[in-house]
Amino acid sequence: LSHLHIRRSFLCYSPPPNIAIYFAVPLQVFVFDVGGKTWKFYDWSQITTVAVFGKYDPELMCYAHSKGSRIVLKGDIPLKKIVNPAARTAWINHQLALAKRQYMDGINIDIEQQVKKYSAKYYALTALVEEMTEAFHKEIPGSQVTFDVPWCPECIYKRVYNYTGIANSCDFVFVMSYDEQSQMWSHCILGANAPYNQTLAGYDNYIRIGINPKKLVMGVPWYGYDYTCRGLSKDHVCSVAKIPFRGAPCSDPVGHQVPYKAVMKQIVPRSLSGILWDKEQKAPYVEYKDPQGAFHQVWFDDPRSISLKAAYVKKRGLRGIGMWHADCLSYSGDSAAQGQTAAMWEALKPK
Ligand SMILES: *[C@@H]1O[C@H](CO)[C@@H](O)[C@H](O)[C@H]1NC(C)=O
Ligand SMILES: *[C@@H]1O[C@H](CO)[C@@H](O)[C@H](O)[C@H]1NC(C)=O
Repeated sequence: LSHLHIRRSFLCYSPPPNIAIYFAVPLQVFVFDVGGKTWKFYDWSQITTVAVFGKYDPELMCYAHSKGSRIVLKGDIPLKKIVNPAARTAWINHQLALAKRQYMDGINIDIEQQVKKYSAKYYALTALVEEMTEAFHKEIPGSQVTFDVPWCPECIYKRVYNYTGIANSCDFVFVMSYDEQSQMWSHCILGANAPYNQTLAGYDNYIRIGINPKKLVMGVPWYGYDYTCRGLSKDHVCSVAKIPFRGAPCSDPVGHQVPYKAVMKQIVPRSLSGILWDKEQKAPYVEYKDPQGAFHQVWFDDPRSISLKAAYVKKRGLRGIGMWHADCLSYSGDSAAQGQTAAMWEALKPK
């Protein structure tokens, strides 16, 4: 910890980060930054880690440290390149050197590639996470190594990893509880990005296969999907075109992603009946008609649906919460947008 402290104060002249607070805070709030300068307006009172998925910004690094937050690299590499142990070590050392050079506090490994059970890549990936964690903890004391996993262990076609091995060896896994409609096997009616029950079932599954709840950080979406309907019925059933995805007849690529700020600013004002609520999926949605006359249904998450999930984080004793991604909110001076943005950050706190 002192090593970390010296590196931070040396570069930023910031007050020593209060590491004690970091560990005392019951919840991790894990944030993805995708670039730009809007990070100045994040709710820093809650953030414990920022994962930099955009361009490295030394100003953001200093700011995060001044707030006592960690800032971590993104790690991704084609798995075929790290099957060889020596190549794996070289890549780990490269990441470590980069983290040190940029005064960063760890790495978030985001590998979303197809892996077959018991293949060479399967073992290499588990070894990668184990070796990366060991190297970072040794070379940058107090640093953090995390790994992004899908919303449930067996739900993404051909993405079979040794999740227990991975979760046990790193600091924690970030569960990407979104895009849960990416494989619709039986029908072409789409629903919420992260339906309540299905999302919670994912965590129950990870816990059942032997992962400690304290190793799980819940990821919630700060974006939704806009689907063009072939037909929209009175009881809000939107049927969409068939676009096969890896063997499933329909999937969410028929829609496109929309950040929460665009839902609120552009879509809700055009909607036919304001924001609707689906009781089963516990998620909001809106419907509108585009200039060509086609109906759309837009599913997203809002403070109401996110609060319900945040309550589960506390009840189930998970490690914390985070989102993809922080820049989906508006940080403009517009007062309506400011209120909406504040409410989204507030919803992360379990009531
Ligand atoms: C997963 O990884 C751990 C740690 O390397 C290992 O002990 C375990 O046998 C692996 N499990 C499977 C199913 O591969
Ligand atoms: C959601 O889960 C609860 C508890 O398991 C169950 O009672 C309820 O029927 C489920 N709802 C849906 C829509 O599946």
